[in-house]
Amino acid sequence: MNCNTPIAEIVSTGRFLPPEITTNADLESMVDTSDDWIRGRTGIKERRIAGEGLSTAQMGAAASLDAMDKAGIGPTDIDLIILSTATPDRLLPSTACDIQAIIGATNSVAFDIGGACSGFLYGLSMAEGYLATGRAKNILVVASEKMSSIVDWTDRSTCVLFGDGAGACVVQRSKEKKGIVGTHHGSDGTLAELLYRPAGGTLIPLDSKSMEAGDHLVKMSGREVFKNAVRSMVEASEKALADAGLSNDDVDLLIPHQANIRIIESTARYAGIPMDKVFVNVDRYGNMSSATIPVAMDEASEMGILKTGMNVLTVAFGAGFAWGAVAMRW
Ligand code: UT7
Repeated sequence: MNCNTPIAEIVSTGRFLPPEITTNADLESMVDTSDDWIRGRTGIKERRIAGEGLSTAQMGAAASLDAMDKAGIGPTDIDLIILSTATPDRLLPSTACDIQAIIGATNSVAFDIGGACSGFLYGLSMAEGYLATGRAKNILVVASEKMSSIVDWTDRSTCVLFGDGAGACVVQRSKEKKGIVGTHHGSDGTLAELLYRPAGGTLIPLDSKSMEAGDHLVKMSGREVFKNAVRSMVEASEKALADAGLSNDDVDLLIPHQANIRIIESTARYAGIPMDKVFVNVDRYGNMSSATIPVAMDEASEMGILKTGMNVLTVAFGAGFAWGAVAMRW
């Protein structure tokens, strides 16, 4: 699809980051790791951790209210809530319904999607579809992740990477040619076991045996994920730009999924986008799965880095494998 005349536009963004900060030094006292290793291999210095009383829905609701406030719309104006999360508060009902209840969006339809780290970009494409058919007018695309609840805090190869947080945006029908101009998504389920939680679903139910083995927690083959992430994010960037009729030179700002500074730098290099056009905050938050991109968009906008008229490219990769890129005229 070439949609140079955009259908869907992000009119506002919002975010919520839990106040509690866990530094690399804090992790040194929990597992056999070092600040040097974590900074050198990932670029991460600290991450936010949602404490016991703070849920995925509460974080998502706070980010949503922030975005709605900036858009100047109230809860009853919202007619669709799409939540991306890998850490739902419960398996039934969807956490999007909990967000709906918290914010009082009584006129909305609400559901979760499971696109892992790429879920926010999948949500944007779904919002575009709803707007194209006229079935919704004010859509909240939310990504909220309490990764600390599914991380194995005894596994140094994963626990140092992740953080908690939420981002949201209000998406409306495009005005003045702003909005999504190009998209590419891809998935490869044959590689699912390189990044997954083995237990907790129908295949291996949660029981004392699976819990004891730690199979309800995240397992990752980091090196393999790294290679696939760079390859797929470069390809998705090129395809989304081609869909938009743009080239790498036209990109004013790249907002990539924030998993590892080395993945971000390699993706930017192979995609031909200089690092001074790349937004990075992985040092402060770590990998918040699908929440990284909306949080980064909101920060970049607040800092005056993301400005009206820019060609913005967003790109993500994660479990599934599932990846995608969305190009926007801001
Ligand atoms: O959101 C999408 C999903 N996730 C990602 O995109 C993450 C993708 N992967 C990565 O970012 C990187 O692969 C990691 C950061 C996870 C690992 O970096 P790496 O350079 O690929 O390291 P490695 O896994 O090859 O491990 C190198 C060494 C190993 O020791 P030996 O076998 O060489 O003696 C590990 O045991 O580093 C060791 N190691 C650690 N050492 C200190 C692994 N984790 C740690 C740690 N602290 N936290």
